Amino acid sequence: MVRISLDVDGDHVSDEVEPRMLLVQYLREKLGKTGTVVGCDTSNCGACTVHLDGRSVKSCNVLAVQADGHEVTTIEGLADGDELHPVQEAFRECHGLQCGFCTPGMIMQAIDVLNEHPQPTEEEVRLGLEGNLCRCTGYHNIVKSVLYAAEHSGSTAGAGGAQ
Ligand code: FES
Ligand code: FES
Repeated sequence: MVRISLDVDGDHVSDEVEPRMLLVQYLREKLGKTGTVVGCDTSNCGACTVHLDGRSVKSCNVLAVQADGHEVTTIEGLADGDELHPVQEAFRECHGLQCGFCTPGMIMQAIDVLNEHPQPTEEEVRLGLEGNLCRCTGYHNIVKSVLYAAEHSGSTAGAGGAQ
C-alpha cells in the first residue's frame, strides 16, 4: 500500500491505496464520487474525464498514486451550492444530454476546451471533444451547449468556474 495526499473538489484527502489502483476507482470506490463514470476502461470514451491540476485527464488512464500531491476536480466539484457551473447550465439549457452517461466527462472536457479557447469556433469545440464519445450520438446539442456556454460566460474565468 502507498500513502497519497491530494485535494479532491476542494477537500484534502489522505489515504492508503494499492499501487495499481486507478484514479477513477479511487474516486468512485474510496471517495464515493460516482459522478465520474466508467464507460470503456481503456481510455477511449472519455466518460471518466476529470481535471488534474486544472487540465482534463481520463481518470481510467491515471493511477491514484500519480495524483499524489495534486488537485483533482470532478463533476461533483463544479456547482457552487445550488448554482450550476456555466457549462452545466448550458447543457441543461441546450438539451446537451440524453441518457446522461457521457455528460460528466463531456462537461469536464468542455471546460478544458473553453479554458484554451474562450470563444471557440464550432470546429474547435468538435476537435476538443473528439476523445469523448456519446452513445446516444447527441453531438449536435453537445456542441451547441459548449458554444452557448462560451457566449454566455464571456470569459475564461466564467467558463472555467471552480478551477
Ligand atoms: S472509462 Fe476512461 S476513457 Fe472510457
Ligand atoms: S447522452 Fe447518452 S451517452 Fe451521451
